[in-house]
Formats: sequence, structure tokens, C-alpha cells
Amino acid sequence: MPADLSPIDKAKFAAAKRAVEFVEDGMKLGLGTGSTAAWMVRCLAERIKDEGLRVTGVPTSTRTAELARQLGVPVTSLDEAKWLDLTIDGADEFDPNLTLIKGGGAALLQEKIVATASDQMIVITDAAKEVAQLGAFPLPVEIIPFGWQTTKALIEEMLVSMDVLDRDVSLRMNGDTPLLTDEANYIVDLHLKRIGNPRQLCLVLNQIPGVVENGLFIDICDIVIIGHGDGHVQVRDINNGTQTDDRIQFAPTDNIFADLGD
Ligand code: A5P
Repeated sequence: MPADLSPIDKAKFAAAKRAVEFVEDGMKLGLGTGSTAAWMVRCLAERIKDEGLRVTGVPTSTRTAELARQLGVPVTSLDEAKWLDLTIDGADEFDPNLTLIKGGGAALLQEKIVATASDQMIVITDAAKEVAQLGAFPLPVEIIPFGWQTTKALIEEMLVSMDVLDRDVSLRMNGDTPLLTDEANYIVDLHLKRIGNPRQLCLVLNQIPGVVENGLFIDICDIVIIGHGDGHVQVRDINNGTQTDDRIQFAPTDNIFADLGD
């Protein structure tokens, strides 16, 4: 492994490499979005090339679709695949119940649809994203552009009765204009600091007209794989209540390090 790779990238790579060991021949896979998921796509491409592994991937963003195609991972749409064996994705935060905050990369809508349409979801992460209680990371909420200020105001009003610490809501920008998701929607980020009841918040948010989906993933993630910069990985399975420790061997010649773009 190149010496110039940061410890955080080594951690992400280790988690991704371990997760890809769960992939079996013939599987239909959900391919997550973000820098950790990009490592997973690279590791998957390596197994396809080295072992002749046959898989079909359903990307959760145009970014991931481009990377997968570029690296020779076969992709299809969710409508073609219909149901998936496994989704592997990153997260912005996870708690002891493996409830997640996702959407830092603005792909939460497709990510949630794809993960929900999978028998199993594995989250790959570094240790910094583990929290006792969610909310330090701003919660992304996808809203439609029509009447977005009204939707934002309704979210702010709703937050008054929620068990949260802070209540700032900001429209995510891309330079001078609102950031557009792959579905041409907007994202508002809810700066809450602490989310006391994620299940309640998730339900109430999605009842507001104009809200398409929120970044709380509840009862969706089955396994979290936490990578460390030294190659150590922890595999936590919420269904079995198990935690196992492994070590990933870094191969200095791995050509997946050639392309380090997200
Ligand atoms: C994308 O919308 C997100 O849900 C990502 O999965 C999340 O932001 C993690 O991204 P990184 O792996 O880049 O931290």
C-alpha cells in the first residue's frame, strides 16, 4: 500500500476490502455512494478481474455508476434487478443499534431505496463515525424544490416538539445555487447536535408535504464493518449480536490505488 495514503483512507480501504469478502458469485449488489463506497467498488472490481467473480451492481448515484463502469463492474437499474442480495455502503454516523445518518454525499434517496430492497446491508466505515447518540452530523433531508421555503418552515416548526438539542435548518448549496440531487431535488441539513428519538423524528419528517426522504436509516443496516488505519477491522452483526476482529493484508502492488478519486 502506498505510504502516502492517509490513515483514514487506509481505514476505509480495510473496511471495504473486508466487506467485499461477503460477496458471492452471482449476487446482485447495491453499490453505495461516497469515498468509502468508492473503495468498495475498487475492491469489487479487483475480485471480478482476479477471480472472474460474476456480479451485477445497482449504483446509488451517477457518481458510483460512472466509477463502476470505468472499473468494469457490470451495472443495471433497480427496476431490472428488482431485489438485491446485498448492499454495501458508507455512512456519516452510526449508533449502537446500527441506526445510521446518511446523505452527506446527497445520495440518501437512492441509497435508502436500494438498501431497503436488499436482503442484507453492510455499512463500511472508519471508527470516527461511531457515536453513542446520533446528531452531531447534520441530518440531511431531501425535499422537492417547489415551495421549498414552506417545507423548510414546516420542518423547523415540527422540530420544536422533537427531542433534539439544536434546531438549525440550512439549505445545502453548490456555490451560489441550491445543490441538486440526482433526482433534481434539494437537500436541507438539520443541525440537531443530539437526536433523542430517531424513530419518531424519521416518521414525523416523512409526513411533511415536500419532504421526499430523510437520512435516518433505521432497522436497515445488518452489519457494520469498522476499519482502522493499521488494517484491523471489526465486524459487528446486529442480528447475531456478534463482534469479530480481523486483519486486512495490504498488498503494495494493488493497482486499485492507482485511481484515488471519489
Ligand atoms: C452519501 O449520500 C452518503 O450517505 C455517504 O454514504 C456517506 O456520506 C459516507 O460518505 P464517506 O464514505 O465519503 O464518508
